[in-house]
Amino acid sequence: MKIAPSQMRVLIADDQPDVLEALRLLLKREGYRIESAESPAQALQMVENRDYDAAIIDLNYSRDTTSGQEGLDLLAKIQNLDSTLPVIVMTAWGSVDIAVEAMRRGARDFIQKPWENERLSAIVRTQLELSEAIRRGQRLEAENQLLRGDNLPTMIAESPAMRPVLDLIARVGPSDANVLITGEPGAGKEVVARTLHAISARATKPMVTVNAGGLAEGVFESELFGHVKGAFTDAKMDRVGRFELADTGTLFLDEIANVPLNLQAKLLRVLEVGEMERVGSSKTKRVDVRVISATNANLAEEVNAGRFRQDLLFRLNTIEIHLPALRERKEDIGPLASYFLGVHARRYRKSISGFDQNAFAAMQQHPWQGNVRELNHVVERAVLMAQDHLIKASDLALRTGAVLPRKMEEMSLEEVEEFLIKKALARFNGNVSHAAGALGLSRSALYRRLQRFGL
Ligand SMILES: Nc1ncnc2c1ncn2[C@@H]1O[C@H](COP(=O)(O)OP(=O)(O)OP(=O)(O)O)[C@@H](O)[C@H]1O
Ligand SMILES: [Mg+2]
Repeated sequence: MKIAPSQMRVLIADDQPDVLEALRLLLKREGYRIESAESPAQALQMVENRDYDAAIIDLNYSRDTTSGQEGLDLLAKIQNLDSTLPVIVMTAWGSVDIAVEAMRRGARDFIQKPWENERLSAIVRTQLELSEAIRRGQRLEAENQLLRGDNLPTMIAESPAMRPVLDLIARVGPSDANVLITGEPGAGKEVVARTLHAISARATKPMVTVNAGGLAEGVFESELFGHVKGAFTDAKMDRVGRFELADTGTLFLDEIANVPLNLQAKLLRVLEVGEMERVGSSKTKRVDVRVISATNANLAEEVNAGRFRQDLLFRLNTIEIHLPALRERKEDIGPLASYFLGVHARRYRKSISGFDQNAFAAMQQHPWQGNVRELNHVVERAVLMAQDHLIKASDLALRTGAVLPRKMEEMSLEEVEEFLIKKALARFNGNVSHAAGALGLSRSALYRRLQRFGL
């Protein structure tokens, strides 16, 4: 199917109203829908808000009228948002160098002002046709992958609260945009990351995970960037880092708030220019990596506290997907519980068909501080405990608010630890940084305990 020109949407950006007007008249005649922007900021805003089929941008804006820098920056930002959008740049007559630079950075074509109408129309037409073909190809790829279900993780999301999340996943999954996934522990951030990768054009390439929460500060850099033999005492041989392993694929940076400040600068550089060096080596390597990151911290707060670089945050959160806590999407509790029941009943060969009414009601009321992960563990334990073909509320062993907490002196050390951690998490609404601070633990120490207790 071919898209009619009238459905093609072209963005034009220039700070001169007469140029915009001339372009609009010319391109309207070709039957395209034209939308204009008078500044780079406005153009970006527009690309963020809707899909265009092509963009024609001036390289020089009023702030700095000759170097083309504002236009080149705009080009880079547009590509970051939408890597398949063809961008045609306009330069002043005679400034070929800038045009070449723009092409090198990914512009599809250039036009010199004043332009010849014939030539401009032809360039736009060609780019629109090409872009249609490329996007169709990518879409097919994504659709095929979805249909085949290759490596696609199970993601249950029937609640209204999850609808915007699903929409965003479908929209940005196939692109190369960096995505930041936020949400409480156990909310399903990794599931979202895997889904994004699985429906992307990089799906056949690896998704490499780095868990910044579980890494000691000393090994972090070589884990990410690799090292060469002799770089430090323990470096007995060359080692390839995760960035290189993820080349042409996806890198999943989990628990991103735990990246130490000094490494944040290095991270920023790879994200900005796609270049890095192994520890102890001066040889620069190019890597082509899509970065998906996740955190249960509030990164804006981390930035304010001086623990996280703002420029890095802006790189990472081109798109932000926030996962609501399980208690904010109660409609998903039933379907998730049934799904986990099926998984565990099969695994443990128990013939259990469902939950009785009280069990169901208890699950609806539970606060699920540990979100989907906690639900999974609770159902697993219940499957093992159940004596009947239906799971009862008592099998779930949920400690509801009505039950008085046990006395500390009757608990084991482990139980006390778990109890205090749950309390701290509840007090800070699941914010791990704050809870860790209150407990006198480092974030990663608390993080390891959360995993251990299945919280
Ligand atoms: N929507 C969902 N459908 C099915 N399973 C889910 C869903 N969300 C999460 N899970 C399951 O719950 C568990 C926890 O999810 P996941 O590891 O993605 O959470 P997380 O947000 O990354 O947690 P953490 O912050 O602790 O790293 C996993 O076993 C995952 O498969
Ligand atoms: Mg995770």
